[in-house]
Amino acid sequence: MVEIGKDIAKAKELLEHGELVAIPTETVYGLAGNALDPNSVLKIFKVKNRPHFDPLIVHVSSLDQARKLVEKIPEKAEKLAQLFWPAPLTLLLKRKSIIPDLITSGMDTVGIRCPDHPLTQSLLQTLEFPLAAPSANPFGYVSPTSAAHVNDQLGLQLKYILDGGECRVGIESTIIGFENDQPTIYRLGGFSIALIEKTIGPVSVELNTSSNPKAPGQLKSHYAPKKKVVVGKLNELVNKYSNAKIGVLAFSKKIESVNPDQQLVLSQTGSLDEAAQHLFATLRELDKRDIDIILAEAVPDIELGKAINDRLNRAAAS
Ligand code: TXA
Ligand code: MG
Repeated sequence: MVEIGKDIAKAKELLEHGELVAIPTETVYGLAGNALDPNSVLKIFKVKNRPHFDPLIVHVSSLDQARKLVEKIPEKAEKLAQLFWPAPLTLLLKRKSIIPDLITSGMDTVGIRCPDHPLTQSLLQTLEFPLAAPSANPFGYVSPTSAAHVNDQLGLQLKYILDGGECRVGIESTIIGFENDQPTIYRLGGFSIALIEKTIGPVSVELNTSSNPKAPGQLKSHYAPKKKVVVGKLNELVNKYSNAKIGVLAFSKKIESVNPDQQLVLSQTGSLDEAAQHLFATLRELDKRDIDIILAEAVPDIELGKAINDRLNRAAAS
């Protein structure tokens, strides 16, 4: 049986013995193991049932710890880390050979992130090694934003879940690389692109699908519940699927033509921050209901809304 609690010493001991521990971050829960131990890393891939071509993010307690893992950090990356870490911002940096091949799927860059969660910060500070941690869900399924979500799918395979409550941001980190001094966003996430551009100038955005080798994990179909998902304008979707058993995921307001019990709202006040925070929990809740299809309303396609729509579209792509 998995134990759920706030015992950092226990998490530390398990990790030091090569075991995996689920950890809270501000974005989503991670399935963590010693990033410098290939056996621990191998366990992560096994438990998640994750293909080996999908690289893992390495979590550090500070920029100084990151320096031990990577070659010279480009100026723009350094600036972002200095100003904003800990944050939902993952930097792709040239790795040193101390990083196992398995972590990067053989690529010469490694994703590094300093997570902004007090429990996990304390844990990282007491450890002698950084933590590799993908989201703590079976490969392709909706990411977990609470200890209970982790327990739902991975409880039987884990000894310990460090319980840090509900995740504050609710969607994964923004991923940025710096090849040829050209900052490029590879995954939309919880960190604002506008803030990045204000700090280091214009960035390009290259959202990957399975056909793009740069970020092999950004598969077109991902973050998907078991139920079919369609995304669009609710009025149109409700008409189109009038004969199906539907569940509605609305942005800020329920639609009048459908029974309110069949509908869940992401943010009553229309806040994109709140919508992101509730997105995965709401998808999970609809997935448990006796329905055939989830009709999801696209949110305003600005700022964090772009990242929310990205997740909804990937959830719908399966
Ligand atoms: O917010 C987050 O980033 C969460 C929490 C736990 O930190 N982690 C997370 O990990 O979302 P995961 O494994 O679910 O997604 C990591 C993605 C990979 O699928 C891949 O697309 C990208 O990060 N990635 C990692 N290393 C990379 C690299 N060296 N080059 C390109 N993409 C990389
Ligand atoms: Mg994931």
